[in-house]
Amino acid sequence: PIPIIVDCDPGIDDTIALLTAFVSPELDIRGITPVCGNQPLERTVRNALQVCELGNRTDVPVYAGCFRPMLREPIYGQFHGKSGLGNTMLPEPKKTAETLSAVDFLIEALSNAAETGEKITLCCLGPMTNLAVALRMNPQIAEGVERIVMMGGAYREAGNRTMTSEFNVLADPHAAHVVFSSGIPIVALALDATHQVMLKPEHVAEFARVSGRISETLAELMAFWDRNDVRRYGSRGGPLHDPLVMAYILAPHLFETQKARVFVEYESELCMGQTIADWYGKSGLEPNADIVTKVDAEGVIAFFLARLSRYAEE
Ligand code: BDR
Ligand code: CA
Repeated sequence: PIPIIVDCDPGIDDTIALLTAFVSPELDIRGITPVCGNQPLERTVRNALQVCELGNRTDVPVYAGCFRPMLREPIYGQFHGKSGLGNTMLPEPKKTAETLSAVDFLIEALSNAAETGEKITLCCLGPMTNLAVALRMNPQIAEGVERIVMMGGAYREAGNRTMTSEFNVLADPHAAHVVFSSGIPIVALALDATHQVMLKPEHVAEFARVSGRISETLAELMAFWDRNDVRRYGSRGGPLHDPLVMAYILAPHLFETQKARVFVEYESELCMGQTIADWYGKSGLEPNADIVTKVDAEGVIAFFLARLSRYAEE
């Protein structure tokens, strides 16, 4: 199996991504590293523990990450409800987070990987503060990374939090800058990709027919995710941002990418957090990312409904 670490800020779509990973034997989840993002850290850690409890994966260690972004003041998500998980009540977690912090865990796991020649895939589903701090503390950990598959940014697509900027990058633009400058291969699933995959009411209705406690909870979360904003998205439903990271790793044939050098704006007031792709080589710099440009939306939705149906109970 592919060794992965899931860096995240659960979050409804983070939760769908985690639950997908839990039932994918192709993946060996070495740890979950929640960060301050959609909610303050205490909440994202608790939510991650609750999702492990729900998915019967308390074997996966959770390491609490950074309390705050590198430089800017924190901002929080807007579409995840008060707890970060809609109105859904999740089981009380029986275990707690590890004593090791996310940054120390990333350094330890990736240095070990670098030493043994193993390479770990990093799934980044939130602001990338944890990874950026780890890279600042020990740049050599880059050698233990196979690649980063990240959800964040907006290239040809407009922003979702400001006119120019997507939430994960805007929430810690300095961290995103550090990561894009690290030399680690990056696959970028930005709004350009995720807005192509709307989880619509008819998909939720189809999934709601899957029996069992976990499936019911999932269907409830999916229903809450509907933005009800046809003007913005062209249809009802919610964009499947974070889960696309798992789909990309597990079913790459459903995606098309284009290489480009990516820059992150972290100084401008107007364009703070904007991601800019050098599509035509104007900068004279080598590409640092594979940006997903096209997604087989129907294929991806079918993939998720099939995967998550593994939670069906008699
Ligand atoms: C990203 O922002 C968060 O609210 C979601 O979890 C996702 O990671 C989308 O812009
Ligand atoms: Ca997220």
